[in-house]
Amino acid sequence: MTTEVTREFIQGLPKAELHLHIEGTLEPELKLELAKRNHVDIGQSTIEEVRKTYQYDDLASFLAVYYPAMNVLQNEQDFYDLAFAYLRRAAANHVRHVEIFFDPQAHTSRGIAFETVIHGLHRAIVDARALNVDADLIMCFLRDFSKESARKTLLEALPFKDWILGIGLDSDEHNNPPLKFARQYEDAAAAGLHLTAHCDIDQVGSIDHIRQALEIMGVERIDHGTNIVEDPDLVDFAVSHNIGMTSCPLSNSFVRPEMKGEEIVELLGKGVKICVNSDDPAYFGGYISDNYYALADQFGLSRDQVVQLARNSFEASWISDEKKALYLAQLDDYVAKN
Ligand code: ADE
Ligand code: ZN
Repeated sequence: MTTEVTREFIQGLPKAELHLHIEGTLEPELKLELAKRNHVDIGQSTIEEVRKTYQYDDLASFLAVYYPAMNVLQNEQDFYDLAFAYLRRAAANHVRHVEIFFDPQAHTSRGIAFETVIHGLHRAIVDARALNVDADLIMCFLRDFSKESARKTLLEALPFKDWILGIGLDSDEHNNPPLKFARQYEDAAAAGLHLTAHCDIDQVGSIDHIRQALEIMGVERIDHGTNIVEDPDLVDFAVSHNIGMTSCPLSNSFVRPEMKGEEIVELLGKGVKICVNSDDPAYFGGYISDNYYALADQFGLSRDQVVQLARNSFEASWISDEKKALYLAQLDDYVAKN
């Protein structure tokens, strides 16, 4: 299929990115630079060697490559460099607003202080204002760690509440349903944090997990979650409750045989606030505009559908109504002029 939109149109379209793991933006070049800077032996010394390790065909095999690479992140400056490199790319992709996931337990569990991580990320976010990108942080719990570890992490995070917009849930979903963290979600909501959770595609119990997250834990968004199409009542729930859904086509096509384009188009058509994102762009072959283009091209999306995805990205975001109105006006202006 072909699409009526060009790469240039997609690149310039003002958009928000709502599903982006900062650790997943660690490009091979920076990985090698940080390995050298911090004297960490990662077992590879060239970009080609690093790329050769990128062999995965499901979530678990991806995570087995993903976490060990984080050893190169040691100091506050490393987290700053990682985040600022991503934010530059976001600016080049006309991302006006981004809500960035970070995995504190992936760092605290190997002896890096929570403060080191958040200070580096926050400083990059402040500096990115000069790039015309406004960014916020979403702290994810690793769902394959214990709920006690999540509780400890939440307590570590609360002094930095003003720097954190919400909480999420990621890592290996197998046997780790959202309800395992019901208490932590309740406490985070009471502290004024927004709520989202990964319900990865085609997991054992995907529909149950989506139902738990939506109906019991009261999340405002689901990350991935396209299996929701299997349950029309849940789709109706998502529409009537204005639930955001953050899809990542290129990532889907790495961990499954296809990018779930039919599901994305169906949900878009039904009025779900679904949007397109890059997940772990350094590992899944492309940043946000690449994701929009791959989906548009393979599924023959119309210009209106592409624009609606970008509109949804702002509408599903957790920015103020004033900012939302401003960005949506910029989007309308761009569409009128292009
Ligand atoms: N961590 C980074 N990317 C992830 C994904 N797509 N699903 C679960 N955990 C992740
Ligand atoms: Zn993700």
